[in-house]
Amino acid sequence: MRNLVKMSDLSKEEVYDLIQRALELKAGASPIQRPDLIAANLFFENSTRTKHSFEVAQMKLGLQVLNFDASTSSLNKGETLYDTCKTLEAIGCNILVIRHSQEAYYQELEGLTIPIVSGGDGSGEHPSQCLLDLMTLYEHFGRIEGLEVVIAGDIKNSRVARSNYHMLTRLGAKVQFVGPQVFADPTLGQMVDFDQVIGQVDVCMLLRVQFERHQEQVSLSQADYHTRYGLTPARYRALKPQAIVMHPAPVNRDMEIASELVEAPQSRIFTQMTNGRYMRQAILEKIISDNAL
Ligand code: CP
Repeated sequence: MRNLVKMSDLSKEEVYDLIQRALELKAGASPIQRPDLIAANLFFENSTRTKHSFEVAQMKLGLQVLNFDASTSSLNKGETLYDTCKTLEAIGCNILVIRHSQEAYYQELEGLTIPIVSGGDGSGEHPSQCLLDLMTLYEHFGRIEGLEVVIAGDIKNSRVARSNYHMLTRLGAKVQFVGPQVFADPTLGQMVDFDQVIGQVDVCMLLRVQFERHQEQVSLSQADYHTRYGLTPARYRALKPQAIVMHPAPVNRDMEIASELVEAPQSRIFTQMTNGRYMRQAILEKIISDNAL
């Protein structure tokens, strides 16, 4: 794995190795220590979890951390993303973690030798979120193959939906979608009725309604959305006792999920965030090892 920018960069074996290593780290194993390396984080879109859990992971590996500030950078003088990243490579950075609003932004960075870990590309993919979600599933169920997963929300605009659908399917899980037609992505699958599937699934994965990516006004009030496509207390009660609720967050409370359910016993939303730190440590260890840094 030279870079991690999309889930197809990984074999199934590599995915399970990363889950195993992240679980070992969570259980107290010592991470490698590389104070000689510099990781630069370039976030061109807002982030709390991904940015800061990569930073915590980098600190735990003893890396030196450079947080690139786009607002005061020479991007404002017209410098390209490629030249920005090439500059960071030239001055001695060793790993770039990048989130960008442009889908597949990493294609224009193919000439670089510095490894790139994507923190999300527009509505494209979100590989580190997918891996921490898989870790959370494996931690709870001890397997991924055969799990029934419903993903409810803004499928069309979600990089998490894309990464998770493709990898869950590759690993033998069954994935169905719930949401208004305007949020459907026919390349992934058709929408099903939430109330028909909620009592059968092992995993109820909710996705944020991404208002900032909508080209046109979505004619559905928050209350209507919640009633038709959200996790209400009634739907929560219909879940199997072993089923879990996930959401990559940030959460629109009382829209995708009733506020009182965010920390309900079957919710793993904050566990996902905790696991994100360990999975990102595992990803960085693998990037360092596979690139012989
Ligand atoms: N889940 C996730 O990507 O959250 P942030 O946008 O806060 O990083």
